[in-house]
Amino acid sequence: MTQPAERINKLPGYLFAEVDRKVREAVSRGVDVIRLGIGDPDQPTPDFLIAKMQEEAAKPRNHSYPPDDGLPQFREAVARYYETRHGVSLDPEEEVAPLLGSKEGIAHISACYVNPGDVNLVPDPAYPVYGIGTMFAGGRALAMPLKEERGFYPDFDAIDRADLKKAKLLFLNYPNNPTGAVATPEFFQEAVDFAKEHDLIICHDAAYTEVTFDGGRPLSILEAAGAKEVCVEFGSLSKPFNMTGWRLGYAVGNRKAVGLLRRYKSNIDSGIFKAIQYTGVEAFTHEGTPAFLDSLRAMYRGRRDVVVKELKDLGWDLQPPRGTFYIWAPVPPGHTSESFVSRVLEAAGVVLTPGRGFGLYGEGYFRIALTVGEERLGEAFRPLKEAGIAYPS
Ligand SMILES: Cc1ncc(COP(=O)(O)O)c(C=O)c1O
Repeated sequence: MTQPAERINKLPGYLFAEVDRKVREAVSRGVDVIRLGIGDPDQPTPDFLIAKMQEEAAKPRNHSYPPDDGLPQFREAVARYYETRHGVSLDPEEEVAPLLGSKEGIAHISACYVNPGDVNLVPDPAYPVYGIGTMFAGGRALAMPLKEERGFYPDFDAIDRADLKKAKLLFLNYPNNPTGAVATPEFFQEAVDFAKEHDLIICHDAAYTEVTFDGGRPLSILEAAGAKEVCVEFGSLSKPFNMTGWRLGYAVGNRKAVGLLRRYKSNIDSGIFKAIQYTGVEAFTHEGTPAFLDSLRAMYRGRRDVVVKELKDLGWDLQPPRGTFYIWAPVPPGHTSESFVSRVLEAAGVVLTPGRGFGLYGEGYFRIALTVGEERLGEAFRPLKEAGIAYPS
């Protein structure tokens, strides 16, 4: 029997398999399960984008292969968005690459830079794709712990100097999944200066850039001085426009990095349906977009406030996150992240994500996704209270 490749065998086991099994069991018992696990928006794509898609999908000229480098109109719309939103000027010809969702570019960037034995610096806890892309390219992911006492920023001084010499890529993600931390301009500048000093390319995952609260302006790492020399930023239409299923994102920034990614991709995929790219142009340029994004932020802020209040009532000492639609909180003493998530599911029918699923340093935490309405979120806490689940003082 032909054996699978090592890279497939090295993929981590599915940590949520046990939780999934329990969810199925609860559903079959008739439990009204409340799913706060996966970060998939519950709201539909806005009507003005559906209308645009319907119009573009009907045009025969959109039914053929798209250009490998993406539609110039889409690249130009991304560049204009960066100019108006972030004051960053991008050359749409060479500094923008459309992606089949940001995950695709994040997974493939390592193949463009990493040789066997090279190291990538990867935050922990984190979206698992940074480490998996590194491994697929034959590299080693070196964890940079994100600790609460450091505001969930990595400590660059703590990175082993021998590993640093072998390092190629530095992954960052703010607003951060799963911790909800947002970056300051000072932190982004520190990261850019560090990357220059140590000859690294920063891969900044900006999937949640538009989801910030409390006056926090959405920031791009490309706003930092000299950033384009060392940074490529990955953006997504998934979360700001409730378009997770459409698969549309982009990579912007360093010309060389964007060029390598385009070259790599042109050999393994054949681009994004033109009608979807035109819909992306509409998302960036429609007059209704700023109001839509404001309402999206208001919705998640409202949900965040409900959950933070409920958790505080149960004894958790928690700062409301300033970005993303996640709440990251410690499990009560005596629990692992998985045992706590199982207990909550069994006692209350509420699905959470165990922090361990995001890395070793995620142990001791759980994540709540704010992907159901305020009323339903409130309902999730009633059975928790009845079951006596709390954070002891
Ligand atoms: C931190 C982070 N980055 C990237 C993505 C991928 O988003 P997409 O591929 O839909 O653009 C996600 C999705 O959940 C995410 O949480």
